[in-house]
Amino acid sequence: MAITAIKGFNDILPVESGRWQHIEQAARRVFELNGFSEIRVPIMEKTELFCRSIGDATDIVEKEMYSFIDKGGNAVTLRPEGTAGVMRAFIEHKLYAQDPVAKIYYLGPMFRYERPQKGRYRQFHQIGAEITGVHDPLADAQVLNMLVQFFREIGLDEPQLQVNSLGCPECRPAYRSDLIGFLEQRVDALCEDCRRRLSTNPLRALDCKVPGCIAATAGAPSMLDNLCGACDGHFTSVKRYLDLTGTPYSINPRMVRGLDYYTRTTFEMVTSLLGSQSAVAAGGRYDGLISQLGGPSIPGIGFAMGVERVALLLGEKDFCRQPDLFMATLGAGEREFAFRLMNELLQKGLRVEMDYEGKSLKSQLRRADKLGARYSVVIGESEVASGRAILKRMADGVQMETALAADGLCTLLC
Ligand code: HAM
Repeated sequence: MAITAIKGFNDILPVESGRWQHIEQAARRVFELNGFSEIRVPIMEKTELFCRSIGDATDIVEKEMYSFIDKGGNAVTLRPEGTAGVMRAFIEHKLYAQDPVAKIYYLGPMFRYERPQKGRYRQFHQIGAEITGVHDPLADAQVLNMLVQFFREIGLDEPQLQVNSLGCPECRPAYRSDLIGFLEQRVDALCEDCRRRLSTNPLRALDCKVPGCIAATAGAPSMLDNLCGACDGHFTSVKRYLDLTGTPYSINPRMVRGLDYYTRTTFEMVTSLLGSQSAVAAGGRYDGLISQLGGPSIPGIGFAMGVERVALLLGEKDFCRQPDLFMATLGAGEREFAFRLMNELLQKGLRVEMDYEGKSLKSQLRRADKLGARYSVVIGESEVASGRAILKRMADGVQMETALAADGLCTLLC
């Protein structure tokens, strides 16, 4: 029996990979325009890194990590997200010593042992960006503007930006106890997961999708009504800066993130087009994370988008480059002629295709059509002898006579 891929691990086949490249190239373009540089970190880290940053009581750490003991007896984990590893590298290489304000982006595979469904996989890919060293809410707004700019760049009106604030170690503990008090009065209506997390991670009840929990938490106290003065001021400024640049957003006071390191601003780009996997990108501020991982007290904010989800939103669009020219040939001598010409044109940056196998003219022209070539040309003995041929524009059938030479063809086709 043939061996198949592991459940939840996908092959990205041609055409689909064209969409991925379109996404990746747009992200690099937009991020680099905004002053971000790429960092490449390992896909495996010490397990402790994720426990300490993402948090022991999160679904990711409790249930979803690919963790194992390697042959040397070390506890290691395939990264479930990018921020922890990037901040580990930021601290380890003392990048803050050159400049505490670092703008970094990354892309690559992440691993979570979740139940696979459309838009949710066990190996998935993120493109993420992080800014360190800026307390000012201008950084929050600029990260959000960059994310919105990215979606515009790839031609998607969806998804919609939602923002929230999760407060800070000053104001969240009191809110947390209020919320626990509220939930305890309705404990019988909560699902088993929310009951279990009541004292360790009560906020998760706010975004639980189980109908009983939605009903039970309808009048729950909101973090936004319980922010301390500093967090409230910060959130007000983020909203003002977004308004200033005309960035559309809505406020979602029930947004809870699945990672513990967030403080203050959190956000998601959501869509209704992907069923229950509505978050296409997400992130927030993590002012305590770098010090929590043993680094200096430097704030940070960033996001990651799920490439699979963005690609799903692009639908069936084909971003692969179509051939500029298909050369059909009538005999072996003409094939040699076309082969030489094709290589001269490739050198000039034109995408050219020809038939390698001596197929019939009809089948060659069918292939030109199938590949979506912009132009085709038929090369027979007389074309080789005269050095001229009729070029056909495939879209409308318009024909034009041209010299069969690289320079002339290049001027016509570029
Ligand atoms: P996250 O919300 O866990 O945040 O993931 C970010 C994005 O990754 C999600 O919005 C989703 O598009 C995608 N994603 C997550 N899990 C899966 C999955 N199983 N299958 C497909 N796509 C998935 C983080 O990972 C944070 N590190 C983001 C961040 C960066 N916060 C600050 N900086």
